[in-house]
Amino acid sequence: MSFQLPIALYALVNQAAQAPAPREANLIFPVEASTVARGLDDVFYFILWVSIISFVIVIAAAALFVLRYHAREGHKEEKTATHGLGLELTWTIIPTILVTIMFFAGFKGFLELKTAPQNAETILVEAQMWKWSFTYANGAQSDELVVPLGRPVKLVMSSIDVLHSLYIPAFRVKQDVVPGRYTSLWFEPILAGTYHLFCTEYCGTQHSSMITSVRVVPEEQYQAELTELANFIDRLPPLEAGERVFRMKGCATCHNLTAETRAGGGPGLGGLAMNASRAFVDGSSGTVDEQYIRESILVPGAKVVSGYPNIMTPYQGRITEDELRVLIEYLKSLTP
Ligand code: CUA
Repeated sequence: MSFQLPIALYALVNQAAQAPAPREANLIFPVEASTVARGLDDVFYFILWVSIISFVIVIAAAALFVLRYHAREGHKEEKTATHGLGLELTWTIIPTILVTIMFFAGFKGFLELKTAPQNAETILVEAQMWKWSFTYANGAQSDELVVPLGRPVKLVMSSIDVLHSLYIPAFRVKQDVVPGRYTSLWFEPILAGTYHLFCTEYCGTQHSSMITSVRVVPEEQYQAELTELANFIDRLPPLEAGERVFRMKGCATCHNLTAETRAGGGPGLGGLAMNASRAFVDGSSGTVDEQYIRESILVPGAKVVSGYPNIMTPYQGRITEDELRVLIEYLKSLTP
Protein backbone atom coordinates (compact mmCIF):
# COMPACT_ATOMS: atom_id res chain seq x y z
CA MET A 1 0.00 0.00 0.00
CA SER A 2 1.33 3.40 -0.89
CA PHE A 3 1.41 6.13 1.79
CA GLN A 4 2.10 8.95 -0.69
CA LEU A 5 -1.42 10.36 -0.74
CA PRO A 6 -2.03 10.47 3.03
CA ILE A 7 1.44 11.93 3.63
CA ALA A 8 0.83 14.65 1.07
CA LEU A 9 -2.59 15.39 2.55
CA TYR A 10 -1.22 15.54 6.05
CA ALA A 11 1.64 17.84 4.98
CA LEU A 12 -0.95 20.14 3.45
CA VAL A 13 -3.07 20.27 6.60
CA ASN A 14 0.00 20.57 8.81
CA GLN A 15 1.43 23.44 6.80
CA ALA A 16 -1.83 25.33 6.81
CA ALA A 17 -2.06 24.90 10.57
CA GLN A 18 1.50 25.85 11.47
CA ALA A 19 1.16 29.51 12.26
CA PRO A 20 4.24 30.76 14.09
CA ALA A 21 2.69 32.27 17.20
CA PRO A 22 1.78 29.99 20.13
CA ARG A 23 -1.83 30.34 21.28
CA GLU A 24 -2.77 31.91 24.60
CA ALA A 25 -4.45 29.78 27.26
CA ASN A 26 -8.13 29.07 26.57
CA LEU A 27 -10.96 26.97 28.02
CA ILE A 28 -9.42 23.72 26.80
CA PHE A 29 -5.65 24.24 26.90
CA PRO A 30 -3.05 26.21 28.85
CA VAL A 31 -0.63 28.43 26.89
CA GLU A 32 1.41 26.66 24.18
CA ALA A 33 4.81 26.99 25.85
CA SER A 34 6.83 24.33 24.00
CA THR A 35 7.71 23.60 20.38
CA VAL A 36 5.39 20.57 20.15
CA ALA A 37 2.37 22.21 21.81
CA ARG A 38 1.01 24.01 18.76
CA GLY A 39 1.08 20.92 16.53
CA LEU A 40 -0.51 18.72 19.20
CA ASP A 41 -3.29 21.22 19.77
CA ASP A 42 -3.89 21.48 16.03
CA VAL A 43 -4.38 17.73 15.80
CA PHE A 44 -6.75 17.89 18.76
CA TYR A 45 -8.80 20.71 17.18
CA PHE A 46 -8.85 18.88 13.84
CA ILE A 47 -10.24 15.72 15.47
CA LEU A 48 -12.65 17.78 17.57
CA TRP A 49 -14.10 19.57 14.54
CA VAL A 50 -14.33 16.39 12.45
CA SER A 51 -16.21 14.82 15.36
CA ILE A 52 -18.57 17.79 15.81
CA ILE A 53 -19.37 18.04 12.09
CA SER A 54 -19.86 14.25 11.74
CA PHE A 55 -22.10 14.27 14.81
CA VAL A 56 -24.29 17.03 13.36
CA ILE A 57 -24.54 15.30 9.95
CA VAL A 58 -25.42 11.89 11.42
CA ILE A 59 -27.96 13.22 13.93
CA ALA A 60 -29.57 15.53 11.36
CA ALA A 61 -29.91 12.67 8.86
CA ALA A 62 -31.35 10.38 11.54
CA ALA A 63 -33.89 13.03 12.60
CA LEU A 64 -34.85 13.71 8.99
CA PHE A 65 -35.44 10.00 8.27
CA VAL A 66 -37.51 9.58 11.44
CA LEU A 67 -39.72 12.51 10.42
CA ARG A 68 -40.06 11.41 6.84
CA TYR A 69 -40.38 7.66 7.06
CA HIS A 70 -41.91 6.83 10.44
CA ALA A 71 -44.99 4.50 10.47
CA ARG A 72 -48.24 6.44 10.42
CA GLU A 73 -51.89 6.28 9.25
CA GLY A 74 -52.21 6.12 5.50
CA HIS A 75 -48.48 5.92 4.86
CA LYS A 76 -47.47 3.10 2.53
CA GLU A 77 -44.09 1.38 2.40
CA GLU A 78 -42.16 2.69 -0.58
CA LYS A 79 -40.12 0.51 -2.86
CA THR A 80 -36.66 2.08 -2.97
CA ALA A 81 -33.35 1.28 -4.56
CA THR A 82 -31.27 -1.12 -2.43
CA HIS A 83 -27.94 0.06 -3.74
CA GLY A 84 -26.48 3.55 -4.30
CA LEU A 85 -22.91 3.31 -5.55
CA GLY A 86 -22.19 7.05 -5.42
CA LEU A 87 -23.47 7.37 -1.88
CA GLU A 88 -21.59 4.33 -0.64
CA LEU A 89 -18.32 5.52 -2.17
CA THR A 90 -18.81 8.95 -0.59
CA TRP A 91 -19.37 7.67 2.92
CA THR A 92 -16.44 5.30 2.58
CA ILE A 93 -13.83 7.50 0.96
CA ILE A 94 -14.30 10.74 2.92
CA PRO A 95 -14.09 9.15 6.40
CA THR A 96 -11.14 7.02 5.25
CA ILE A 97 -9.23 10.14 4.23
CA LEU A 98 -10.11 11.86 7.51
CA VAL A 99 -9.02 8.99 9.78
CA THR A 100 -5.86 8.52 7.71
CA ILE A 101 -4.96 12.17 8.27
CA MET A 102 -5.61 11.69 12.00
CA PHE A 103 -3.39 8.62 12.08
CA PHE A 104 -0.46 10.28 10.34
CA ALA A 105 -0.79 13.47 12.36
CA GLY A 106 -0.82 11.42 15.56
CA PHE A 107 2.03 9.21 14.41
CA LYS A 108 4.20 12.17 13.46
CA GLY A 109 3.53 13.80 16.85
CA PHE A 110 4.31 10.53 18.61
CA LEU A 111 7.68 10.24 16.84
CA GLU A 112 8.51 13.86 17.64
CA LEU A 113 7.69 13.38 21.31
CA LYS A 114 9.70 10.15 21.52
CA THR A 115 12.85 11.40 19.82
CA ALA A 116 14.88 13.84 21.88
CA PRO A 117 17.38 15.97 19.91
CA GLN A 118 21.02 14.91 20.35
CA ASN A 119 22.03 18.24 21.89
CA ALA A 120 19.32 18.21 24.57
CA GLU A 121 20.27 19.34 28.08
CA THR A 122 19.87 16.28 30.32
CA ILE A 123 18.28 16.73 33.74
CA LEU A 124 17.80 13.76 36.08
CA VAL A 125 14.43 13.47 37.77
CA GLU A 126 13.78 11.41 40.85
CA ALA A 127 10.25 10.84 42.04
CA GLN A 128 9.36 9.67 45.52
CA MET A 129 6.32 9.80 47.77
CA TRP A 130 5.64 12.76 47.59
CA LYS A 131 8.06 15.07 45.93
CA TRP A 132 10.15 15.66 42.82
CA SER A 133 13.89 16.12 42.85
CA PHE A 134 15.84 17.48 39.87
CA THR A 135 19.60 17.01 39.41
CA TYR A 136 21.48 19.10 36.83
CA ALA A 137 24.66 18.57 34.86
CA ASN A 138 26.83 20.38 37.45
CA GLY A 139 25.45 18.35 40.35
CA ALA A 140 23.03 21.04 41.54
CA GLN A 141 19.70 19.84 42.90
CA SER A 142 16.35 21.53 43.23
CA ASP A 143 12.76 20.75 44.11
CA GLU A 144 11.39 22.91 41.31
CA LEU A 145 12.51 22.49 37.73
CA VAL A 146 14.56 25.25 36.10
CA VAL A 147 15.11 25.02 32.34
CA PRO A 148 16.78 27.20 29.72
CA LEU A 149 14.60 29.08 27.24
CA GLY A 150 14.85 27.97 23.60
CA ARG A 151 16.97 24.89 24.22
CA PRO A 152 15.80 21.24 24.15
CA VAL A 153 15.72 19.58 27.57
CA LYS A 154 15.61 15.84 28.18
CA LEU A 155 14.33 14.54 31.51
CA VAL A 156 15.71 11.14 32.51
CA MET A 157 13.39 9.89 35.21
CA SER A 158 13.29 7.21 37.89
CA SER A 159 11.23 6.50 40.98
CA ILE A 160 12.52 5.21 44.32
CA ASP A 161 9.19 3.81 45.47
CA VAL A 162 5.93 3.59 43.51
CA LEU A 163 4.57 4.56 40.13
CA HIS A 164 4.41 8.32 39.56
CA SER A 165 3.84 10.31 36.40
CA LEU A 166 5.34 13.63 35.41
CA TYR A 167 3.02 16.05 33.64
CA ILE A 168 3.72 19.58 32.39
CA PRO A 169 0.45 20.75 30.77
CA ALA A 170 1.93 23.92 29.25
CA PHE A 171 4.49 21.81 27.35
CA ARG A 172 1.94 19.05 26.49
CA VAL A 173 4.24 16.33 27.82
CA LYS A 174 3.46 13.51 30.23
CA GLN A 175 5.34 10.34 31.07
CA ASP A 176 5.06 7.63 33.73
CA VAL A 177 7.94 7.40 36.20
CA VAL A 178 8.35 3.74 37.06
CA PRO A 179 10.30 2.12 39.91
CA GLY A 180 13.06 -0.16 38.66
CA ARG A 181 13.47 1.40 35.24
CA TYR A 182 14.28 4.66 33.51
CA THR A 183 11.84 6.62 31.39
CA SER A 184 12.44 9.90 29.65
CA LEU A 185 10.72 12.76 27.91
CA TRP A 186 11.90 15.92 26.23
CA PHE A 187 10.61 19.39 25.38
CA GLU A 188 11.89 22.72 24.14
CA PRO A 189 10.40 25.69 26.01
CA ILE A 190 9.60 28.67 23.80
CA LEU A 191 8.05 31.05 26.33
CA ALA A 192 9.74 32.28 29.51
CA GLY A 193 7.54 31.94 32.57
CA THR A 194 6.48 29.66 35.41
CA TYR A 195 4.30 26.64 34.73
CA HIS A 196 2.75 23.81 36.74
CA LEU A 197 4.39 20.40 37.04
CA PHE A 198 2.11 17.68 38.40
CA CYS A 199 2.25 14.07 39.46
CA THR A 200 -0.61 12.58 37.50
CA GLU A 201 -0.60 9.01 38.80
CA TYR A 202 -2.28 8.31 42.13
CA CYS A 203 0.65 7.45 44.40
CA GLY A 204 -0.72 7.52 47.94
CA THR A 205 -2.35 9.86 50.45
CA GLN A 206 -0.25 12.95 49.66
CA HIS A 207 -0.39 12.46 45.86
CA SER A 208 -2.13 15.80 45.42
CA SER A 209 0.75 17.65 47.11
CA MET A 210 3.22 16.25 44.56
CA ILE A 211 3.05 19.47 42.61
CA THR A 212 5.83 21.90 41.81
CA SER A 213 6.70 24.36 39.06
CA VAL A 214 8.85 24.64 35.98
CA ARG A 215 10.60 27.95 35.53
CA VAL A 216 11.74 28.78 32.01
CA VAL A 217 14.55 31.34 32.20
CA PRO A 218 17.04 32.83 29.70
CA GLU A 219 20.29 30.91 29.19
CA GLU A 220 22.55 33.21 31.30
CA GLN A 221 20.13 33.14 34.20
CA TYR A 222 19.90 29.35 33.90
CA GLN A 223 23.68 28.98 34.18
CA ALA A 224 23.81 31.46 37.07
CA GLU A 225 21.05 29.63 38.97
CA LEU A 226 22.74 26.25 38.53
CA THR A 227 26.00 27.62 39.93
CA GLU A 228 24.13 29.18 42.81
CA LEU A 229 22.22 25.96 43.52
CA ALA A 230 25.35 23.82 43.43
CA ASN A 231 27.30 25.65 46.12
CA PHE A 232 24.66 26.89 48.51
CA ILE A 233 25.92 25.03 51.60
CA ASP A 234 29.33 26.73 51.36
CA ARG A 235 27.82 30.11 50.65
CA LEU A 236 24.81 30.41 52.94
CA PRO A 237 24.71 30.59 56.76
CA PRO A 238 23.95 27.11 58.19
CA LEU A 239 20.35 27.87 59.15
CA GLU A 240 19.47 29.22 55.71
CA ALA A 241 21.24 26.34 54.00
CA GLY A 242 19.43 23.95 56.33
CA GLU A 243 16.07 25.47 55.46
CA ARG A 244 16.87 24.89 51.79
CA VAL A 245 17.86 21.27 52.40
CA PHE A 246 14.59 20.84 54.32
CA ARG A 247 12.64 22.02 51.29
CA MET A 248 14.79 20.18 48.74
CA LYS A 249 14.53 16.83 50.47
CA GLY A 250 10.76 17.11 50.68
CA CYS A 251 10.59 17.06 54.50
CA ALA A 252 7.72 19.56 54.43
CA THR A 253 5.49 17.07 52.62
CA CYS A 254 5.06 15.10 55.87
CA HIS A 255 6.25 17.39 58.69
CA ASN A 256 4.91 20.69 59.98
CA LEU A 257 7.34 23.40 61.05
CA THR A 258 5.29 23.78 64.22
CA ALA A 259 4.97 21.15 66.95
CA GLU A 260 1.69 19.94 65.45
CA THR A 261 1.48 16.45 63.97
CA ARG A 262 0.48 16.37 60.30
CA ALA A 263 -2.64 14.30 59.54
CA GLY A 264 -1.51 11.27 57.54
CA GLY A 265 2.10 12.38 58.00
CA GLY A 266 4.73 12.63 60.70
CA PRO A 267 5.29 14.56 63.92
CA GLY A 268 5.67 18.34 63.80
CA LEU A 269 9.29 19.42 64.05
CA GLY A 270 8.86 22.74 65.85
CA GLY A 271 10.35 23.00 69.35
CA LEU A 272 12.47 19.86 69.31
CA ALA A 273 13.53 19.99 72.96
CA MET A 274 17.09 18.80 73.26
CA ASN A 275 17.58 16.20 75.98
CA ALA A 276 13.82 15.55 76.11
CA SER A 277 12.93 11.94 76.72
CA ARG A 278 11.21 9.87 74.05
CA ALA A 279 9.37 6.57 74.40
CA PHE A 280 9.70 4.24 71.41
CA VAL A 281 7.31 1.63 70.08
CA ASP A 282 9.62 -1.23 71.09
CA GLY A 283 9.24 -0.18 74.75
CA SER A 284 12.69 1.40 75.04
CA SER A 285 13.31 5.11 75.52
CA GLY A 286 16.01 7.65 74.76
CA THR A 287 16.84 11.34 74.72
CA VAL A 288 16.76 13.80 71.84
CA ASP A 289 20.21 14.88 70.67
CA GLU A 290 22.01 15.42 67.36
CA GLN A 291 22.84 11.73 67.11
CA TYR A 292 19.19 10.75 67.58
CA ILE A 293 17.99 13.29 64.98
CA ARG A 294 20.65 12.09 62.53
CA GLU A 295 19.63 8.47 62.96
CA SER A 296 15.94 9.34 62.63
CA ILE A 297 16.66 10.94 59.24
CA LEU A 298 18.97 8.23 57.91
CA VAL A 299 17.18 5.17 59.35
CA PRO A 300 13.76 6.34 60.58
CA GLY A 301 12.73 2.78 61.49
CA ALA A 302 15.53 2.41 64.09
CA LYS A 303 13.67 4.33 66.81
CA VAL A 304 10.00 4.92 66.10
CA VAL A 305 8.28 7.18 68.63
CA SER A 306 5.21 5.61 70.28
CA GLY A 307 2.00 6.60 68.56
CA TYR A 308 3.52 6.99 65.08
CA PRO A 309 3.60 4.46 62.24
CA ASN A 310 6.96 3.56 60.68
CA ILE A 311 6.30 5.11 57.25
CA MET A 312 9.17 7.51 56.59
CA THR A 313 11.52 6.95 53.64
CA PRO A 314 15.06 6.20 54.89
CA TYR A 315 17.49 8.93 53.76
CA GLN A 316 20.58 6.74 54.17
CA GLY A 317 22.64 7.33 51.01
CA ARG A 318 20.24 10.03 49.85
CA ILE A 319 21.61 12.98 51.79
CA THR A 320 25.21 14.14 52.15
CA GLU A 321 26.98 14.75 55.48
CA ASP A 322 27.15 18.47 54.66
CA GLU A 323 23.42 18.56 54.04
CA LEU A 324 22.74 16.64 57.25
CA ARG A 325 24.87 19.00 59.29
CA VAL A 326 22.98 22.14 58.21
CA LEU A 327 19.61 20.35 58.25
CA ILE A 328 20.05 19.30 61.89
CA GLU A 329 21.04 22.86 62.85
CA TYR A 330 17.92 24.11 61.12
CA LEU A 331 15.66 21.55 62.85
CA LYS A 332 17.09 22.51 66.25
CA SER A 333 16.28 26.16 65.55
CA LEU A 334 12.56 25.63 64.94
CA THR A 335 10.24 26.98 67.63
CA PRO A 336 6.92 25.28 68.53
CU1 CUA B 1 3.42 10.81 42.73
CU2 CUA B 1 1.07 10.92 42.44
